[in-house]
Amino acid sequence: MSDAARTGDLEAALRAVVPALDAHLAAPATGTASGADASWRPLLDTPVPQLGAGDVETLRVLAETVVPDAMRMTAPGFLGWITTGSTVVPAVARLVATLAGTQRYLGHTTGLLESVALRWLAETCQLPPEMEGVFSSSGSVANLLAIGAARQRAYTRLGHDVARDGVRDVPPGRIYASVEVHHCVLKAAAVLGLGRDAVALLPVDGSQRVDLSAVRAALSADARTGVVPVAVLGIAGTTNTGAIDDLDGLADLAQEFGTWLHVDGAYGLFGRLDPRLEARYTGVDRADSVVVDAHKWLCVPTGIGATFLRDRAALGQTFTSDPSDYLEGAFEEAGDTSWATSPWEAMGPPFHDWTLDLSAPARGLVVWSALHEIGVEGLRARIVRDNDYARSLAELVRADPCLELLAEPELSICCFRYRAHGLDEATLDALNRDIVRRLHGSTPYVPSPTLVDGHYAIRPCFINPRTEQRDVSALAATVRRLGDALVAGAG
Ligand SMILES: Cc1ncc(COP(=O)(O)O)c(C=O)c1O
Repeated sequence: MSDAARTGDLEAALRAVVPALDAHLAAPATGTASGADASWRPLLDTPVPQLGAGDVETLRVLAETVVPDAMRMTAPGFLGWITTGSTVVPAVARLVATLAGTQRYLGHTTGLLESVALRWLAETCQLPPEMEGVFSSSGSVANLLAIGAARQRAYTRLGHDVARDGVRDVPPGRIYASVEVHHCVLKAAAVLGLGRDAVALLPVDGSQRVDLSAVRAALSADARTGVVPVAVLGIAGTTNTGAIDDLDGLADLAQEFGTWLHVDGAYGLFGRLDPRLEARYTGVDRADSVVVDAHKWLCVPTGIGATFLRDRAALGQTFTSDPSDYLEGAFEEAGDTSWATSPWEAMGPPFHDWTLDLSAPARGLVVWSALHEIGVEGLRARIVRDNDYARSLAELVRADPCLELLAEPELSICCFRYRAHGLDEATLDALNRDIVRRLHGSTPYVPSPTLVDGHYAIRPCFINPRTEQRDVSALAATVRRLGDALVAGAG
């Protein structure tokens, strides 16, 4: 038996798994066993081996068990949450980043591409040139970084260095956001010592956008009682419905009350590329911080979010670690590393001082590969097409008396439900829950559900690059068919 782990026979290892991956990519979303029926569970959930099984056997288990029974998020009908499988080139780029480079901080190609990709992302999203970024593992961490910087700035103004001293003996802080805010913001508030309750969850209007008068009222009330306004948070594409807050109105409020404007565009910032929506993004340019997730609409492998700040040094004040002998003592930190005689001498930009992790994969290389492959115009075409899918589904829903639109799509999410005459709300919720269960269990269409104004909604999110218009039409027809059958008692 050869030992690929030692000899590094990459080609043989890839040959062993690529056919399974190709079959996986061609398979529909449905069909994998889960729960108690999963035949793969006992094959994988074993005691740790004392003696390794070797490369051939390990690759065989990958090809024969792991890949065939993995969730098929790459399939055209997978429309759940805001997630999708990677396209091929960024997936290969991740492999490259894993084997060549492996870290982002040395002065080599992968280190340079970290900065280039951040610049490309900022340009793609039309952020102001002074905005500079840092990659992290997710939208959740990207938001945490931004809110951390906002917290630091808010308390520094009052003479407190909370990164050094902790959040104690200081007045409480508040983050102002809508009830539609992603829960990672509450988690960030908890981790940053503000507490989850520091996030004021303010009401939305009929379009699911934060009610500006409620934001103003909350800011005014807190100003009277000495609560520190840490940040006003605008959502450029809510997770539930894709609504885009009035960012310009929020920027006005942030300015008036002297606080930080943070825009969570983890999902929707790329929506700015759709010329029909450009006006909805007015105000992004006034933000102090903006987040976008490459692993959502850019369709790169999971694990890549980005935070951009008007003043990236604010991240340094928040997250910098004290110099250590084995890092700063051993390497030069410098923007210009052209003087270095070897890549081992210079760290390049100190990304680790602007985020949580020190060791980190070369995420920039992966983002760079996606934008290098399709360019801004390729991405724009995808965004426009996906927004069109949501609109075309909304039209199909409107045209069908047994379907009901629950939120007008703004981006690429369309929330709707099956309805039948004479059924009360509780029955409609149960019926639509049943429809979603059947979609997941026996059809190639896998949207995820949510609640819109308290109603159970079927919520496809179109960011999957492999989805086609025929999948959109088939989803509407399938929901109609399943709903009819359930109502007729034949389900
Ligand atoms: C608006 C928004 N913010 C933040 C997040 C969290 O991102 P992640 O899942 O990458 O942590 C999401 C996830 O869907 C989101 O939609």
